[in-house]
Amino acid sequence: MTETTAQCPVAHGFDPLSPDYLESPYPHLNALREAGPVHYVPSLDYWIVTRYADVAAVFADPTTFSATIAQTPLAPLTDEAGEILKSGVRNTPVLSNLDPPAHTRVRLHLATKFLPRKIAAMVPQIESLATELIDRFADRGSADLVADLAFPMPALTMFRLIGFPDADAEMLKSWCNDKLEVNWGKPTADYQRRAATNMSKLWDYCENFVTLRRDNLADDLTSDLIRQRENDPEALNDQEVASVLFALGFAGHETTTNLIGNALRQLLSNPSAWAEICADPALIDGAVEETLRFDSSVIAWRRITTRETSIGGVQVPAGAKLMLSLGSANHDPAMFPDPESFDIRRPNARLQLSFGKGTHFCLGQHLGRVEARTVIRLLSERFPDLQLKADQSYTFPRNISFRGPEHLHVEWKAAS
Ligand code: HEM
Repeated sequence: MTETTAQCPVAHGFDPLSPDYLESPYPHLNALREAGPVHYVPSLDYWIVTRYADVAAVFADPTTFSATIAQTPLAPLTDEAGEILKSGVRNTPVLSNLDPPAHTRVRLHLATKFLPRKIAAMVPQIESLATELIDRFADRGSADLVADLAFPMPALTMFRLIGFPDADAEMLKSWCNDKLEVNWGKPTADYQRRAATNMSKLWDYCENFVTLRRDNLADDLTSDLIRQRENDPEALNDQEVASVLFALGFAGHETTTNLIGNALRQLLSNPSAWAEICADPALIDGAVEETLRFDSSVIAWRRITTRETSIGGVQVPAGAKLMLSLGSANHDPAMFPDPESFDIRRPNARLQLSFGKGTHFCLGQHLGRVEARTVIRLLSERFPDLQLKADQSYTFPRNISFRGPEHLHVEWKAAS
């Protein structure tokens, strides 16, 4: 089929790292989408793809749209930071930044660990951890639900699954934050040096952990991956297992912390939604899906073109770096009627693109969903009068992909 192609418009004023966009991206994204399906963004040297159908089509074609760029630093690094990363982070691409067929082999070795029934079996431990964290602040009458719950809960869940000790969680979280700034933000030269050093420490930690487990197998994901070698010649080698830990040790919590923060913020900003959930917990699943659509915790993901192509009728060259705007796709009225309203009963909310689609469809989607549903259920049972503290302003991390409030101050009657 021959497609008519058009020149790509340039979005001169668009900056997804500006304070204005970080605080409220949707007016900017809606305006871009209405103006056209693809725009070149000079501030990033990326092409932004805005419409649902085009983002879905890009995800569905891994041959034309390579994922190898998914973890690459967004902005050029200083020579010094680049050198530290090159010598210190010796990981191999394993999942989100590896194309088929090599990706298929790695994915197959991990997929069974994240099946819905495996995640369903984790619910008691997720519930027990969330309850323990909630108990710590239940008598206070107020809390920061990000610092007190959404931040530690997914990290401890993921680290325990991998086998990392709880005592290292805070240190690992802080190194992961450095990884986020380097790969998806625009850190200063000074911060780049420190962050690259910490990313090297994170890599060393993963590598050393694999060595430790190889000599002393335990009951955790790392040991399971090592055990696969006993009767599977295709199983992952030590460097690949360490690379999986380096990937999962990040992907398994930043995303979910933000999903929980966004869900609670939206539900409490719409007091009738919170009251409805308290009255009918069966609505929680839909509320999580609608949060993923309306206020995604992963607002953009990246691909790079392997050949000249056209997207939505716009010509894009080979080697074009694409910012797939999941946030814009999820607000596309062609897919979601009345997209600016937060509707926990929206019938097609589950079609949101926040977990990507196709070859790289998020491996942790069941885990992320279960964690968010569990937290919302426990809070709604214990604090039906939960409300946002008045007059708070929200801040968001400065990067193009991961979005959630850094703090969420709430209050309730302490006797609850
Ligand atoms: C809860 C919110 C989460 C969101 C919004 C999210 C979002 C995403 C997105 C957008 C992708 C890229 C998809 C693509 O390239 O097509 C992805 C991939 C991935 N996610 Fe998640 N994620 C979440 C939770 C998790 C969790 C809890 C884990 C932990 C296991 C996880 C692990 C992964 C991995 C390993 C990949 C790469 C899969 C592959 O390349 O085969 N994610 N996720």
